[in-house]
Amino acid sequence: DKVVLAYSGGLDTSIIIPWLKENYDFEVIAVCVDVGQGEDMAEIKEKAIKTGASKVYIEDVKKEFVEEYLFKAVKSGAIYENKYLLGTSFARPLIAKKLVEVAHKEGAKHICHGCTGKGNDQVRFEVSIAALDPDIKVIAPWRIWSIKSREEAIDYAQLKGVDIPVTKEKIYSRDRNIWHISHEGGELEDPQNEHNSDMYLMTIPPEKAKDEVCYVDIYFDKGIPKKVNGMEMESVEMINYLNKLGGENGIGIVDLIENRLVGMKSRGIYETPGGTILYAAHSELEHLTLDRATMHYKKLISLKYSELVYDGLWYTTLKDALDAFIDKTQETVTGNVKLKLYKGNIMVAGINSPFALYNQSISSFGESDLYNHKDAEGFINLFGLPVKIKSLMNNK
Ligand code: ARG
Ligand code: SIN
Repeated sequence: DKVVLAYSGGLDTSIIIPWLKENYDFEVIAVCVDVGQGEDMAEIKEKAIKTGASKVYIEDVKKEFVEEYLFKAVKSGAIYENKYLLGTSFARPLIAKKLVEVAHKEGAKHICHGCTGKGNDQVRFEVSIAALDPDIKVIAPWRIWSIKSREEAIDYAQLKGVDIPVTKEKIYSRDRNIWHISHEGGELEDPQNEHNSDMYLMTIPPEKAKDEVCYVDIYFDKGIPKKVNGMEMESVEMINYLNKLGGENGIGIVDLIENRLVGMKSRGIYETPGGTILYAAHSELEHLTLDRATMHYKKLISLKYSELVYDGLWYTTLKDALDAFIDKTQETVTGNVKLKLYKGNIMVAGINSPFALYNQSISSFGESDLYNHKDAEGFINLFGLPVKIKSLMNNK
C-alpha cells in the first residue's frame, strides 16, 4: 500500500519518512507543494529520496495560490483577530487539494502530514481532505509517536541519519509562502519578550528602512489588482514585486497573540509585506466606491470569512456563498489607489475610480441641487423620534 506524505524538507516531515517505513508497510510518496516558500525544489526532491521516499512530486501551484486563494483574500478583506492576514491558513486547503490529487493518481488510500496535535494546521488539512475525498485515511504522526518536542525530533533525526535544517538553538517554527512568513516558538512563547527583528526574512525593520518616502500606485479591476505603477503585471510577479517594495519599507510586521481553533492562545510574528500593501489599497478603494450599508455589512462578512479560513472551512457551502456576496460588492471596486510607504507606515495619497460614490458637489459645503438644507430638519425629526419618545417617558 502507498501513503502520500505532505513533505517540506523540514525537520518534522523529514523524520516522518523513516518513521512511516519503520511502523507501517507503506511505500512513501512525498509531495512538495510549491506555494512560494522559496526553497530549492531539486534539493528537496533529492533529500526526500535519500531519506527513503520511493517517489517525489513537486507541484508548483504559485499562480493558482495567488489567483484562486489570495486574490479572494484581498476581495474579502478577511483579517483574523484584526491583525493576521492568514498567510498559512489560505495555503492549507490548496496543499490538501494537491495531496488528494496525487493520492488519486497513485491509488493511495492514506495521506500523512507533519502537523502537531496542538495546532490549527492539522484541522485545516484534515477537514479539507475530508471535503475532497471522505474515504482517505489520515495519518498524523505527531498524535501517535512518542516524540514529544522538537528537541526529541532532532534526536530522532540524528539517530536515523537524517540531515536537518535546524539546530537546538535556533528553534522557531516557521511557515513561508509567497504571501507571508510566520515565526512561532522559542522565546516568543513568553509574551513579555519583545520579538527580535533579527528573525525577519522578508522585511527590513521599520527603524532601519530607508529615509525617503516611496509611492506605489495600484489599479484594481472589480477588486482584483491588475497593474502596479501603470504597468500590467502577472499575478505571481506582482506579489513578488510588492513583497520587495513592502519589505524595503518595513511594511507588514505583525506581533500577535491569537486564539487557535483548538482552544489555546499562541504567539506569532508574521511578515506580510506585499499583502499588507494590497489590503490597504483595496480597502481605500472600497471607501470610495461602496455605499455605506454595503460597506458596513461587508465588514461582518470579512469577519466571518476570516474565521472560516482560519478554521480550515474553505471547501464549504458557506464559503462559496460568502464569495458570491463578496463578488457582487466588487462589481464597482475598480480604479487606482496611490499609497505612500514610509518606515512601516502606509498612507493614502490619492484614490480615483469611474464608480466613485463620493461626489464633490454634494459633499462640499456649498449649495447643490441634490441636497436641500431644509430637508434635514424633517429627517432629524423622524430619525430622532424614538429617542425623543424615550426621553419624554423617562422624564414623567
Ligand atoms: N498561527 C498561524 C496559523 O494558524 C501560523 C501557523 C504556522 N504553521 C506552521 N506549520 N508553522 O495560521
Ligand atoms: C503546528 O502545530 O503544526 C503548527 C502550528 C499550527 O498548526 O497552528
